[in-house]
Amino acid sequence: MDILLYIIEIRVTDPDAAALGRMLGTDKNRIREGESLDQYIIRGGAPLYGEVEISGAKNAAVAIIPAALMVEGVCRIENIPQISDVTMLLNILKEMGAHIRIINKTTIDIDCSNVEKTIAPFELMRRIRASYYLIGAELGRFGRAEVAMPGGCNFGVRPIDQHVKGFGILGASVEVKNGMVYATAENGLSGGTVYLDVVSVGATMNIMMAATMAQGKTTIENAAKEPHIVDLANFLNSMGADIRGAGTSVIRIYGVKKLTGGFYSIIPDQIEAGTYLAAVAATGGQVLIKNVIPKHLDCITQKLIEMGVSITDLDEAVLVKREGPLYKANVKTMPYPGFPTDMQPQIVTALCLAKGISIVTESVWDNRYKYVAELRKMGAQIQVDGKTAVIEGVSGLTSAPIAACDLRAGAAMVIAGLCAKGETIVEQIHYIERGYEDIVGKLKALGAKIDYMPSPTDPLARPILQAIS
Ligand code: EPU
Repeated sequence: MDILLYIIEIRVTDPDAAALGRMLGTDKNRIREGESLDQYIIRGGAPLYGEVEISGAKNAAVAIIPAALMVEGVCRIENIPQISDVTMLLNILKEMGAHIRIINKTTIDIDCSNVEKTIAPFELMRRIRASYYLIGAELGRFGRAEVAMPGGCNFGVRPIDQHVKGFGILGASVEVKNGMVYATAENGLSGGTVYLDVVSVGATMNIMMAATMAQGKTTIENAAKEPHIVDLANFLNSMGADIRGAGTSVIRIYGVKKLTGGFYSIIPDQIEAGTYLAAVAATGGQVLIKNVIPKHLDCITQKLIEMGVSITDLDEAVLVKREGPLYKANVKTMPYPGFPTDMQPQIVTALCLAKGISIVTESVWDNRYKYVAELRKMGAQIQVDGKTAVIEGVSGLTSAPIAACDLRAGAAMVIAGLCAKGETIVEQIHYIERGYEDIVGKLKALGAKIDYMPSPTDPLARPILQAIS
């Protein structure tokens, strides 16, 4: 399936890289994200068995790729996930003048030595949330940035005031107009102390990037601690930065003059792994989830154990097994190391099938329960009041045509389809493909009956065509 693409010239050095090459396609000027009528057809009701390999972390990759813009030299990045958000960012860098070389399916070289532009096509930038990392990266390298206001999944107001506050403390003036963010630091950036009023992943990473080449020392207090924050700091350090304390609430960045190239391998995706854990919890079965850092999954696995799921941590894998009933649990989403908001729709879906009444509290985003309406179509008993969802477990879900309304909600729809007897059609799957590499292939390998259906003809027209043929 082709995703979207808009790239002018890519050198593929290894025929095994064909898949990534296709993602980066040569079909100029075609942008299909947001317009897709493609669907997943799922015939559910059976447990999952087998092994699944987790890809590189989306939320690390979408920060590390823009961060490569600050590097004057070749960054070889391994464990790149093949997802449309990555494609989009690579296309943005390419448009800005980066040389991108695909080494194999999961490895690319990015060389931004000759990049001089600070502006990328608006249409590409506005489609993804992570384009805001270009502000920190461009400010860090060029002392100025012009970036579209971020898009991405819609679950309430998504302000960037903490990013702006941080850039201001480093000496940049920031203006938002006509859907764009313009940031300039006439005299270059210099270090300072930034206390974040809310724990923000994006602001922590963005300020970290800008501060990497600022004069002197920057301290970020009340910083986010997610594994992808540590990953970005490790990436920048391996390119010559001096960042200390990432993974704690106080990060110190000692500005350096220049970043030069190097090698880096992105960590495995905590949320993709969590999604497969939740899927097995919901359907039952036994799956070995490979290429994970079990410690990053503790915040998810501890809750699943409470729900009656058996989980064994291995070296770089976890074994998940569910044979008996699922039990109710109360869940509150929080910044890391709390239960991740990006696992909330998936755990709610599993709790729909648990014995008893569960209470879920979303404390990160204002409006992350839109998908509940879809689960109700399948017989789920969920009441939502503001940030709280009360879930009364039912003995089974029934199949229905449902739609993804954002990335993680989309993953939850797939899990619901896997549990429901009969045929479930999941629409708006472009959301899912923003962040899950080959979800259909990976689930098929676990015995799931799931198929990708390319855009059908207008569903209203179909019966008439059939009637006259
Ligand atoms: N916030 C502010 N001001 C800011 C920034 C954030 O008030 O300047 C608030 C937000 O409104 C929200 C909270 O702070 O209530 C946390 O937002 P954060 O900045 O941490 O979120 P983000 O950086 O925009 C990233 C992930 C999200 C994930 C959140 C929370 C990326 C590209 N996105 O978003 O991931 O939900 O952190 O962990 O890393 C996903 O992968 O599906 C996804 C949405």
